[in-house]
Amino acid sequence: MQEYDDCWLRYEEVPEGDLRESYRRLCSHAYVAEESRELGAVREELRRGLGGLLGRDPHLWQHPPRTVDGFLAVGTPGDMDVVAQAVDEDRVADLDEGGYVITTGEWEGIDTLVVSASSDRGLVYGTFHLLRLMATHESIADVDIVEEPASPDRLINHWDNPFRGSMERGYAGQSIFDFERLPDLRERYRDYARLLASVGINGIVLNNVNTQIPGRESASDAMEELEGWRLLESRHLENLTGLASLFRRYGIRTYLSVNFGAPEKVGDLDTSDPNDPEVAEWWAEKADEVYDLIPDFGGFLVKADSEGQPGPYNYDADHVDGANVLAEALEPHGGRVWWRAFVYGSHKDRAVQQYDTFEPLDGEFHDNVTIQVKNGPIDFQPREPVSPVFGQMPETDLGLELQITGEYTGQHVHACYHVPMWKEVLEFDTDPEGHGKQVKDLFTDPGTGMAGVGGPGEDRSWTGHYLAQANLYGYGRLAWDPDLSTEEITDEWVKQTFGTDPDVVETVTEIMHGTWPAVIDYSTGGIGLMHMMYNGSAYLENHYDPGPEEWPGYTGITEDGIGKDRNSKGNGYAQQYPDALADMYDDPESCPEELLLFFHHLPWDHELADGRTVIQTLYDNLFAGVEEVQRLRDEWRTLEGEVDEERFRHVAERFDEQVEHAGVWRDRLAEHFYEYAAIPDEQGRVPRED
Ligand code: GCU
Repeated sequence: MQEYDDCWLRYEEVPEGDLRESYRRLCSHAYVAEESRELGAVREELRRGLGGLLGRDPHLWQHPPRTVDGFLAVGTPGDMDVVAQAVDEDRVADLDEGGYVITTGEWEGIDTLVVSASSDRGLVYGTFHLLRLMATHESIADVDIVEEPASPDRLINHWDNPFRGSMERGYAGQSIFDFERLPDLRERYRDYARLLASVGINGIVLNNVNTQIPGRESASDAMEELEGWRLLESRHLENLTGLASLFRRYGIRTYLSVNFGAPEKVGDLDTSDPNDPEVAEWWAEKADEVYDLIPDFGGFLVKADSEGQPGPYNYDADHVDGANVLAEALEPHGGRVWWRAFVYGSHKDRAVQQYDTFEPLDGEFHDNVTIQVKNGPIDFQPREPVSPVFGQMPETDLGLELQITGEYTGQHVHACYHVPMWKEVLEFDTDPEGHGKQVKDLFTDPGTGMAGVGGPGEDRSWTGHYLAQANLYGYGRLAWDPDLSTEEITDEWVKQTFGTDPDVVETVTEIMHGTWPAVIDYSTGGIGLMHMMYNGSAYLENHYDPGPEEWPGYTGITEDGIGKDRNSKGNGYAQQYPDALADMYDDPESCPEELLLFFHHLPWDHELADGRTVIQTLYDNLFAGVEEVQRLRDEWRTLEGEVDEERFRHVAERFDEQVEHAGVWRDRLAEHFYEYAAIPDEQGRVPRED
């Protein structure tokens, strides 16, 4: 048995029948003429994919085969006549980078199936798309598909702690990258690249945004020392070239998270002040060195002035100075700075800070700076309002940061499918009475894009929970095409992972779609509360168990009521949005119920639209969430014998744990609310001390 899972690239044999015959007729012979490294990857994938799907090894040709009924051709129209017969050169030349066409044609009386693009990267994506069609049992007889990515940059922020073998918020075991052993490569790196390329991801930041340990002086012994900043040292940079080359083969550019204090830490300067000419020169030389080694290097990701990482504030400079000095260093090489907006600390409520800090700087960043903004103003909570930064910095390239890993959604012990949450974010209208752009419309121009946080680990499943693979899959698919519906993405993923039996597909799909709403209910109460997790020590944060008593500042809990006045009566957060949204959020009557307590502190007995009180709604949702997980677990159990044994058992065990732990959340939150409200549950489910 292979030591790790194939995830959605399983390529199970298509059952005997007309469909398999039609696949065999067109794909038993594949002609891939050119010799580039990317096309080597295409060939390997065809060998593996077609071999599995067709149930026999395909014949791979470097010239068109003549004595066959049909064949597959992968190439550019300029390079291959066969392709030019089926696809006009202009048709692919006009596509955005990475775009491709899959269509049928004819060459010397032989039927052809053609995957074409104007770049090798497009051919890689087109090949994976074709294999996906077959793995999901779609007909390829009359295909005519044109695809191009919506977002130019589709990154993974892989939070690896180099030289420590660990992942920040990983939940899937040790890190797969072994930085100590580079330049030696592992086969698993290639399989990771395959998984990423198969969903269109075109960049990977290799290391954690935390490049040094925060507050090191007071660290406990148990704490890891983070030294990600060391990757910028010449001796380590040299070792990255093989890894970068491997990713390049799959169309993926390499990026690094860098420490803003690198001129002092890595270099021997006595300042990292962005306005100091020597500092600018140091960064420029470092960029030259990086590009000498990795010519297609993507750029630097920076977490500055946040949670103990150094930044321009240390030098009386601002984020424009900080980002621009790095941008100038990367600019001659076509590189880009991804500068994170996750900065907080000086405000009483962190929700307010990002817009306050960054909006006034709109238009001042260099062209090769992208401001990377988390989807919500707090921190990857199960549901948050969309950050007011989106749609309000028109002169700045923005990136949308989403968390693939389930830090606050059950840490891959719980099942929680993030795609529906991301769809809600992407389809949010950032300015209903103004420019009317949805979030997804903001990431289509050069310099914009998406960043998905989290990386797989050594666990056999890659993600720690087999169902969490869907989040990596779904992130890539949405970054490629945010117009895909949740249903489409789920359907693709389920069929590739579990096979196409309609009953299995229906059951797994229904389970996936039930998970996120359930997590919201039992871990927040469903009407806009969040951030009620147990934190533990600053160095070994838990974020898994409930700990609502730690966060009165976030929940606004008092004996009179609950929620936080982030409105015109309170700290004015709602007023950061354009008027139409600000007005909607400012009034409890028009504020969407699922966000109500995020924006308003309301009496416990305040009545909601359906006549129930705030406290009763919280109780009801907490209980409903747990009941829903119980139902999902029972549904999963019906799949015994219908899906492979390993996945079945693993997910079944996880659901048992989830049911138990969801109950812990429910009880802890219900008791906490009762402690303050002193209003019993109408149904008598919440234990009372009195
Ligand atoms: C969260 C998370 C940290 C992470 C931080 C960030 O606070 O818990 O692990 O470093 O986000 O996004 O920078």
